Amino acid sequence: MVSYKELGLVNTREMFAKAIKGGYAIPAFNFNNMEQLQAIIKASAETKSPVILQVSKGARNYANQTLLRYMAQGAVEYAKELGWEHPQICLHLDHGDSFELCKSCVDFGFSSVMIDASSLPYEENIALTKKVVDYAHQYDVTVEAELGVLAGVEDEVSSAVSHYTKPEEVVDFATRSGCDSLAISIGTSHGAYKFTPEQCTRDPKTGRLVPPPLAFDVLDAVMEQLPGFPIVLHGSSSVPQEYVDMINKYGGKLPDAVGIPEEQLRKAAKSAVCKINIDSDSRLAFTAAVRKVFAEKPAEFDPRKYCGPARDLMTELYKHKIINVLGSDGKAE
Ligand code: G3H
Ligand code: 13P
Ligand code: ZN
Repeated sequence: MVSYKELGLVNTREMFAKAIKGGYAIPAFNFNNMEQLQAIIKASAETKSPVILQVSKGARNYANQTLLRYMAQGAVEYAKELGWEHPQICLHLDHGDSFELCKSCVDFGFSSVMIDASSLPYEENIALTKKVVDYAHQYDVTVEAELGVLAGVEDEVSSAVSHYTKPEEVVDFATRSGCDSLAISIGTSHGAYKFTPEQCTRDPKTGRLVPPPLAFDVLDAVMEQLPGFPIVLHGSSSVPQEYVDMINKYGGKLPDAVGIPEEQLRKAAKSAVCKINIDSDSRLAFTAAVRKVFAEKPAEFDPRKYCGPARDLMTELYKHKIINVLGSDGKAE
């Protein structure tokens, strides 16, 4: 058993309380490798932003759980070395799909876990979430749950609406499960294709896809039911068109990739949404930078020469999100 407290990590309780009060959101950035972690920590340290390092089941398998734990511990030390006196870093399991996985993460030094039982029937979602909460809370590890199903690009707008979180369920769910935060579905989805072209309109000037707005009425109704309760938004990448263009220019193929417009995320961050999940944007930045080096310098074979520029572009992206979208800069001196 390794306690996250020994690693210098924090859980999400205080972070979220402050974020809701202050009208900003905590960035939850996924990482799979050293360059991503370096970029996240550098951006967070330079902006003095609290940060959630997210690890998916896939990332845990990819990077090895023991190595990950030491990477997170190393991240705290690296942050201090960069001059961040009191780093507020949370290590979080993203989309945990079983009690066993959540328990293993709690036992391995994570300070927060998500149990995503949103695909199960309502009562089973509550029961599994409660089981994880009962275990995690013994160690002061916070738990995120999910209610509602994130839309997939295969959905028609009409059927996507039917997966939105039902505001009339949230009080019962949060009370009986005991979760510390709740991920809701209001129209975001994972990946770089959040909407089909049919769900969008096209900007006549640029020819770019303009996605439909998020269901802020659902968010408002949830907040009315659960005043001051921490809400989480998954699938919140914006899919910056400059990265998509770079990827396509240098040999990639990402036609009609589209994300959540930043002004909508800015609006969400000012509400009870206090955790915003971003993964795809970092993948796009990494890929764009690597493709550019490969296209322009085909003789290059030192990974530092293409992972380095990828790391720089991701750092720039994370800082932009922190300062211009989430507003979490300066909140962890
Ligand atoms: O929610 C999904 C995250 O972007 C993690 O994705 O399962 O491919 O690591 P992954
Ligand atoms: P994106 O695919 O929009 O980056 O969402 C990431 C996410 O929700 C991780 O849980
Ligand atoms: Zn997610």
